[in-house]
Amino acid sequence: PNGVSLRGKHILITAGPTHEPIDPVRYIANRSSGKQGFAIAAAAAQAGARVTLVAGPVHLPTPQGITRIDVETAREMLVAVESALPADVAIMVAAVADWRTADAADQKLKKDGSGQPAPLTLVENPDILATLGHHAQRPTLLIGFAAETQKIAEHAQAKLARKGADWIVANDVSGDVMGGDANAVQIVTAFGIDAWPVMPKDQVAQKLIEKVADALSPHAD
Ligand code: C5P
Repeated sequence: PNGVSLRGKHILITAGPTHEPIDPVRYIANRSSGKQGFAIAAAAAQAGARVTLVAGPVHLPTPQGITRIDVETAREMLVAVESALPADVAIMVAAVADWRTADAADQKLKKDGSGQPAPLTLVENPDILATLGHHAQRPTLLIGFAAETQKIAEHAQAKLARKGADWIVANDVSGDVMGGDANAVQIVTAFGIDAWPVMPKDQVAQKLIEKVADALSPHAD
């Protein structure tokens, strides 16, 4: 509508949490509604991109005109993301669980009367963003998200380098961003920081897609 075009581009997006099973009825997860990632997928599709959205367990309708792949765990998310390559742009919005249980129990864990909780052994999950950052088919533009409660820009700069990403969209989650409809973000790149005021998640999505289109445009300086 306002001239933003991502026609011919493939945009790969992750959204939502992952669920890492402890037993058939319990799991480890981060808090994430998936709203921001779904809004970005919708904005990208509206700009004419081919969009693949890899979604963790969320309660959200699929935006029009996109391909949605539902996954449960971080490892499933990684497989789905790698299978969707190549992509021109990847925007990793998902709040991936950093750890999973070393092996999930087949049966529901029971209290055994001893007062001692069942021990949980955790192992680290693959880092999907960092995997893409060092991938043979690395997307041209790789964008990560970072939920921070303090030293937002500083942590985001460190994350850029560590994960091999081009931009980190840092949001301050010390307020009530989680599950809400508004977000305050700072776009951190090697060239500086673009701090946006608080705005609805739909508008953050729209502005981010404009910035992506700008960065991909051959006239960008
Ligand atoms: O290190 P941290 O979890 O704060 O980094 C957040 C960014 O990394 C997000 O873009 C998130 O989607 C991505 N991430 C990932 N795989 C993980 C952990 C985080 O892709 N295992």
